[in-house]
Amino acid sequence: MLIGCPKEIKPQEFRVGLTPSAALEAIAHGHKVVVETQAGAGSGFENDQYEAMGCEIVDSAEEVFARADMIVKVKEPQAAERAMLRDGQLLFTYLHLAPDPAQTDDLIASGATCIAYETVTDPRGGLPLLAPMSEVAGRLAPQVGAWTLQKANGGRGVLMGGVPGVGPAEVVVIGGGVVGTHAARIAAGMGADVTVLDRSIARLRYLDDAFGGVFKTRYASAGNTAEMVVRADMVIGAVLIPGAAAPKLVTRAQLTHMKTGAAIVDVAIDQGGCFETSKATTHQDPIFEVDGIMHYCVANMPGAVARTSTLALGNATLPFLLNLADKGWKEACKADPHLRRGLNVHAGQITYAAVGEALGRDSVSAESVLGLSA
Ligand SMILES: NC(=O)c1ccc[n+]([C@@H]2O[C@H](COP(=O)([O-])OP(=O)(O)OC[C@H]3O[C@@H](n4cnc5c(N)ncnc54)[C@H](O)[C@@H]3O)[C@@H](O)[C@H]2O)c1
Repeated sequence: MLIGCPKEIKPQEFRVGLTPSAALEAIAHGHKVVVETQAGAGSGFENDQYEAMGCEIVDSAEEVFARADMIVKVKEPQAAERAMLRDGQLLFTYLHLAPDPAQTDDLIASGATCIAYETVTDPRGGLPLLAPMSEVAGRLAPQVGAWTLQKANGGRGVLMGGVPGVGPAEVVVIGGGVVGTHAARIAAGMGADVTVLDRSIARLRYLDDAFGGVFKTRYASAGNTAEMVVRADMVIGAVLIPGAAAPKLVTRAQLTHMKTGAAIVDVAIDQGGCFETSKATTHQDPIFEVDGIMHYCVANMPGAVARTSTLALGNATLPFLLNLADKGWKEACKADPHLRRGLNVHAGQITYAAVGEALGRDSVSAESVLGLSA
């Protein structure tokens, strides 16, 4: 198969869909790889590193799209990219189609087969191609929160770990899933006094077993949440209700009871945020103040650490990529029900029910287009 990797064109996107070492593995499997010039530069991968692995560097995205059997990317294709997709071509990338009718229409019109990273599943019910970005955002949250707490940035001027004789920062993490667990570990590693709140008793049990002594856990009742938020120097929002907007767990009125200069890091902002006062910000202008509380609400946190994010995403996508390239998408999706869950659009039809429902469009099952019984 000829695998093509264009340079990402969405503003502020520095990741790349294929690392040189992933390309090497694909080539070792007998495939060919074309990479747009400078595609990896934002993540610190230069053309000569791809060439050393056996890739062909080409001058334009047009050439990548015209020649490749499979396009591997990071972000959803932008309008100019969608116009280059063609009938029978395979697209493997994040799509997030449910809120995006324009993209969905273009993918349907292209005739391409589109597999979305975010809906591929694993045997434990997880989302293996989303998890690495949650790990990155979770580990980054205390780092940006600590910066937000600094006086010059409008914060309380509190050091995460304190010093001998002076207590550490109190960090409260709401939601103890992938983001929350990684955030809590890093905050604790910085010396902060950390408490994780979650509504799942099973999750709290797991966290207590695995991390008791590193951080504390509490049930996320409204009362406990209100009490902990008032005490906190930093609150990290990390809740997720799959398929729904994030619940607003902290109201504007509650901010007035918080410590002036406390920091909120709302990682769940990509789902609307779990603080009433959150609104999405960018890496250029990441923080704002409401009622004396500093908010960090960057919707694409992994972009700040593009190299780490590219490597983490590449590790997770590689086995699926090789499977698709080795067997072709049809056989690969027939054999692997988890990869099959990633099939969102094929040959002019939506093949993922939730996308069809969200957009009020017809859909067919992935099984039916593969000739499998559902
Ligand atoms: N801003 C970014 O750049 C970025 C990057 C990655 C992920 N995210 C977002 O971070 C959020 C968390 O993702 P995740 O991968 O950790 O999800 P996850 O499913 O692993 O964890 C979510 C946790 O929230 C808990 N929860 C649900 N409702 C709750 C409530 N009312 N109170 C307390 N806990 C509650 C769940 O029990 C679960 O443990 C999502 O919104 C995700 O989209 C944002």
